[in-house]
Amino acid sequence: MGKDVIIALDFSTEDEVLGFLEHFAGEKPYVKIGMELYYALGNDIICKLKARGHQVFLDLKLHDIPNTVKSAMRVLSALGVDMVNLHAAGTRAMMAAALEGLTRPNGSRPILLAVTQLTSTSEQVLHDELLIAAPMAEVVASYAQNAQAAGLDGVVCSPLEAGVVKKACGPAFMTVTPGIRFAGGDVGDQARVTTPGQARQLGADYIVVGRPITRAEDPVAAWKRCAAEFVDA
Ligand code: C5P
Repeated sequence: MGKDVIIALDFSTEDEVLGFLEHFAGEKPYVKIGMELYYALGNDIICKLKARGHQVFLDLKLHDIPNTVKSAMRVLSALGVDMVNLHAAGTRAMMAAALEGLTRPNGSRPILLAVTQLTSTSEQVLHDELLIAAPMAEVVASYAQNAQAAGLDGVVCSPLEAGVVKKACGPAFMTVTPGIRFAGGDVGDQARVTTPGQARQLGADYIVVGRPITRAEDPVAAWKRCAAEFVDA
């Protein structure tokens, strides 16, 4: 499994996206399209980024009845995205249906990941509001095992949970981890962060990095620093 840095393109206009990518000249970083960009620009931006040679993680976190998710995944798969995700809380039946919808007539399909628990959900909210009594680590491990049983490729989680997931599901089950900051960098609204190097040591397979690259004075240098610490270390 190749390790890579995925840049979160958290912008809402095409000008901002293309202006940002202009810095990268001939380089083609792996990019993530989240809800903000997708709801602003739709399938058009996916097609444009694919045509420019980027691999695309479409981060829409689907969660609905199995048949609806299956049909939606069929549409997304036809766009040629490389990675998509859903909420493991949608159940094993929903995840299995998603996988079916994603599989193209030639048998290929994008990587399918599950969100276990959002990193913004605290242990207290898990217990008091969602009425889930088990500890967070147990919930994350169990949801990851459900995703694996349904045939998914891995999960999106905090780097600090990557070890729990690998222990529960084995080393080949993928962990894609946001919440990355350089040592001494601005944490912003992320609560539990690691550096790219720590994420590597904790077993992450891909890191998702937004503001430390998109808001850097030199975005290409920041991207290369992530790669040096995470991929090449
Ligand atoms: O700017 P920053 O590096 O914090 O961006 C992280 C990206 O990863 C954002 O696009 C955010 O929506 C996404 N993400 C996250 N935590 C999750 C799932 C996705 O930060 N649990």
